[in-house]
Amino acid sequence: MPRALIVDDDLAFQLGLAEAVRREGLEVSTASNLAEARAEAARGAPDAVLLDLSLPDGSGMELLPELEALPEPPDIILITGQATVETAVEALRRGVADYLTKPVDFARVKMALANLTRTRELREEIGSLRGELRSLGRFGHLIGASPAMQGVYDLLARVARTDASVLLTGETGTGKEVAAQTIHRLSRRHKEPFVAVNCGAVSASLIESELFGHERGSFTGADRTHKGVFEQAHRGTLFLDEITEMPHELQVRLLRVLETESLTRVGGSEMLRVDVRVVAAANRGAEEAVSAGRLREDLLYRLNVFPVLLPPLRERGEDVELLANHFLAELNREEGTDKQFAPSALTRLRVHSWPGNVRELRNVVQRAFIVSDDVIGTDALPLRPPVAGEPEAAREQGLTIHPGTPIAEAERRLILATLEHCERDKKKTAEALGISLKTLYNRLNEYGGGRGAGGAAS
Ligand SMILES: Nc1ncnc2c1ncn2[C@@H]1O[C@H](COP(=O)(O)OP(=O)(O)OP(=O)(O)O)[C@@H](O)[C@H]1O
Ligand SMILES: [Mg+2]
Repeated sequence: MPRALIVDDDLAFQLGLAEAVRREGLEVSTASNLAEARAEAARGAPDAVLLDLSLPDGSGMELLPELEALPEPPDIILITGQATVETAVEALRRGVADYLTKPVDFARVKMALANLTRTRELREEIGSLRGELRSLGRFGHLIGASPAMQGVYDLLARVARTDASVLLTGETGTGKEVAAQTIHRLSRRHKEPFVAVNCGAVSASLIESELFGHERGSFTGADRTHKGVFEQAHRGTLFLDEITEMPHELQVRLLRVLETESLTRVGGSEMLRVDVRVVAAANRGAEEAVSAGRLREDLLYRLNVFPVLLPPLRERGEDVELLANHFLAELNREEGTDKQFAPSALTRLRVHSWPGNVRELRNVVQRAFIVSDDVIGTDALPLRPPVAGEPEAAREQGLTIHPGTPIAEAERRLILATLEHCERDKKKTAEALGISLKTLYNRLNEYGGGRGAGGAAS
């Protein structure tokens, strides 16, 4: 039988809660202060701890790291008298499973405990996904094995099981929407709706009713009651794309909905409760949008409980090849073909700077697939080959190397870009780089696509 530890100094409350938890089929032990809780947690190896925040000998928060450090860390449900957003945010950041506010609604206790089972399953699922990604370079629908993407996977895995709001930022085409879907898929809400709305694509006059719905007759043309996306996403996940395009006054309303978990439709007066996990996305830095006055700071703070930055494709190294082959394999499967990239084509893809990121890559592969027979060569890639002396060209070669790039990776990119620049003439390339022709051949061989990175073996 799973075990729960209840830590609360209000004995009458402790008793009532213990009763409710027992009814859910858990064995219950209790503690009235931090010291007792420590002893009890060490002795009883609880599966769940229901923890009051204000205890006679300190804050329940102090216990979090100790509980996390147990051999089998329990799930933690916080109980708090003051329902401040700050507490919730801080607690979710530190990985608690859920939190209840006093006076506790016993129906909520039941739900929180039921969710725990799901959370355990999810942990295992995420664990296996992590294993999968290490070997195959995938995580949910996301493809990529680069260190930059592994960092993203870790964050997504950690945040998915909580209800915390997430803010995804990244250039266009970096996979923000795919990341949002992945969060939903790995959350305990995965069987409920995932609803996406692009705040930049809905006209300012319609967006309020699009988000919050409207009552019949609330404005000309509102001939029937309309449920907004918040209601449609009830119990599920709402993806608010291009959040910075949302008009200011609506940002205020959105913030209120997030804080009160309830809304009124346009032209309505009834308060409707909504249980929605919000994932928002912005193309550029959110802080930048705040200073430009396009995003309210309080809304950013509320959404930014868990920021995740999707790195640009040009910083993902080998992922370009992985993704290109993935998209090609998809097309081959659909069309029953077996087209392959010529090694020179892969080199060309690797040195491009991909301003449109993964979306651009996908389009380029699609086009190349259509115009090619069995082998996809560089001529099928509409990527303008760099022209010497043109500053634009230098940028297109993707030679932005960021601090922290491993030297071997920087060297690889430099060599491949120079090779392209010298129109694949290896003698010229070696001269330009100040290395021997033999060294160049060796490097090209190491890069796997060696044969191709320009016929190194010839
Ligand atoms: N890591 C990835 N693995 C596989 N496919 C990806 C990945 N990232 C993006 N894609 C694909 O690239 C395309 C663009 O992705 P997505 O729409 O998620 O980008 P975005 O960041 O939301 O872009 P925008 O800011 O322009 O809306 C989609 O077709 C998506 O399936
Ligand atoms: Mg998008």
